[in-house]
Amino acid sequence: MSDEMTAADKAKFVTAHRAADFVHSGMRVGLGTGSTAAFLVRRLGQMVRDDNLQIRCVPTSTRTAELARAEGMDVVTLEQVGWLDLTIDGADEFDDDLNLIKGGGGALLQEKIVAMASDRMVVIADAAKHVETLGAFPLPVEVIPFGWQTTQKLIEDLLVSMDVDGRSTALRMAGGVPFVTDEGNHILDLDLGRIGDARQLALALNRIPGLVENGLFIDICDQVVVGHSDGRLELRDIAKGTIIQERLDLPGADNLFTDVAD
Ligand code: A5P
Repeated sequence: MSDEMTAADKAKFVTAHRAADFVHSGMRVGLGTGSTAAFLVRRLGQMVRDDNLQIRCVPTSTRTAELARAEGMDVVTLEQVGWLDLTIDGADEFDDDLNLIKGGGGALLQEKIVAMASDRMVVIADAAKHVETLGAFPLPVEVIPFGWQTTQKLIEDLLVSMDVDGRSTALRMAGGVPFVTDEGNHILDLDLGRIGDARQLALALNRIPGLVENGLFIDICDQVVVGHSDGRLELRDIAKGTIIQERLDLPGADNLFTDVAD
């Protein structure tokens, strides 16, 4: 398997495997969505099968649910468990305050609900996701289909008064038709370049009728596990204010980490 992995995949593998160490039997765990989260789900599935890890999992999308079931995990709904001990998810960008942009995969609504229903949210990310200021990645917002063009216009009007560099917005498409989320909504991607005040923007966006949720995760993430393709790790903890450097300790890892660079 390792011969087939790209440098980016190795970084995702590293962060996902390290974050899986935070998961213990008895926990209720939120499972994120995206390619990095998929590495985590596969790792947890391995722990369930090989190490008798006993957890109940709440996925944040139908595709994560399908993968988790295929891995033999106990998949439950948020309604069934009510609250979660830990959620582990990917991100499109994170800054030094561990604020995030999420939703590149279109699952931001369930991701935010699940993360906020958790004692702790850990983000798994490769080093390329770290930014000084959020906004280079287009900000996804979920809008209901009814009157979505009006919602888009209200967003564009709002952006005029916001501290951002770009103001163009686009309806996300998939296969020539508007992308539809698990909740039956659409996604607008806001190309902002730089978001000067992410907290203010997040609050203002959510006041627009028809806009269900935005992809800014402010004060939600507790820890980011940053993975590098050569096995190095960086554990950033916002409450402790610490950044700890580690290396993935994995049998056979030397094989995995030869010939790579970020
Ligand atoms: C899904 O909607 C997103 O929030 C993902 O968590 C985010 O896009 C990261 O995805 P990757 O791990 O594939 O980069």
